[in-house]
Amino acid sequence: MPSSEPPALEVHDLSVSLGRTPVLDSVSFEVAPGELLSLMGPNGSGKTTLLRAIVGLERPARGTVRLDGRDLREVPVHRRGIGLLLQEAALFPRRTVYENVAYGPLVQGRPLAEADTEAHQALELVRMQGFEERDPATLSGGERQRVALARTIAAHPRVVLLDEPFAAIDAGVRAGLRGEFRHVLAERGIATVHVTHDREEGLFLGDRVAILLGGRLRTVGAPATVHDEPPDVETARFLGYNVLPEGAGWVAFRPEAARLDPVGSAGPSVEVLAVGFTGRGSLVVVRSTSGERLEVELDRAAVLPRPGERRVLNWERSLRFSRRA
Ligand SMILES: Nc1ncnc2c1ncn2[C@@H]1O[C@H](COP(=O)(O)OP(=O)(O)OP(=O)(O)O)[C@@H](O)[C@H]1O
Ligand SMILES: [Mg+2]
Repeated sequence: MPSSEPPALEVHDLSVSLGRTPVLDSVSFEVAPGELLSLMGPNGSGKTTLLRAIVGLERPARGTVRLDGRDLREVPVHRRGIGLLLQEAALFPRRTVYENVAYGPLVQGRPLAEADTEAHQALELVRMQGFEERDPATLSGGERQRVALARTIAAHPRVVLLDEPFAAIDAGVRAGLRGEFRHVLAERGIATVHVTHDREEGLFLGDRVAILLGGRLRTVGAPATVHDEPPDVETARFLGYNVLPEGAGWVAFRPEAARLDPVGSAGPSVEVLAVGFTGRGSLVVVRSTSGERLEVELDRAAVLPRPGERRVLNWERSLRFSRRA
């Protein structure tokens, strides 16, 4: 990861309100050239608003966005050198794939021959050569996303912002496509912010991961560090930890670090709600006596409980969080 380079994108103390609702509160982070930052958070946490503010579609109440050290405050959207790619690729209808991709370099005033080379190179990068004359309406969802990426790349952005670009694409195609996206963006030295709600996708794709909850960036760091050391109980919950009240705070532990012991063992009693096969093993959903739903991942050798039965829940490795004053 090229972390020693100066950042391409710097967001500092960014606050945004929509109407009179404060949506982002003092968000700060940096992305280096060629680096991919996964931005994760639940619905309504402010992810799209953050991307819109970076690209210049929302005016921040406070804070700065810098590209290669330059403050973008007075720079209009189309001159920022930032590409934005949304969940549903918005290609120009009634224009061919080629015309869609060559559009960026042409409006930037590049000579025809240069725009032509750019468009062909970009289509080759996303492995869509041969589709030049197609009408976008005849493409599959995955093909459309690749053309949209080619169009973004052909415009030579310094920064690319991806807002759930794989959400509408089936799991089989998605795995290959996201790998290709990452490769193409890194190869071009583009700084990327990739928004996803999918925890596994975010941890897998990100050189670093940022978690946004309720408009505040709770943590930014290496995927393993963010996963293993959430800074607060809300972030732990978002990352899939089981959380139980304990004393003046909470204890949190991973489903894969939990086990179900026979009734009569030491530990909290739980009721089994559901059992399902995951491929690697089984996932058991249980309810504590205080009403929390918790998950336990069992391996394939485990003897499975039945819904309605009682067990005692125990776990290895846990984190403790105290209630904030
Ligand atoms: N025009 C608006 N006026 C007031 N509040 C708004 C407006 N647009 C969005 N919001 C609110 O801002 C918050 C953040 O919205 P945003 O679209 O950034 O969330 P998100 O993290 O992208 O969510 P999702 O995962 O569902 O896409 C939400 O609570 C939303 O209801
Ligand atoms: Mg959104």
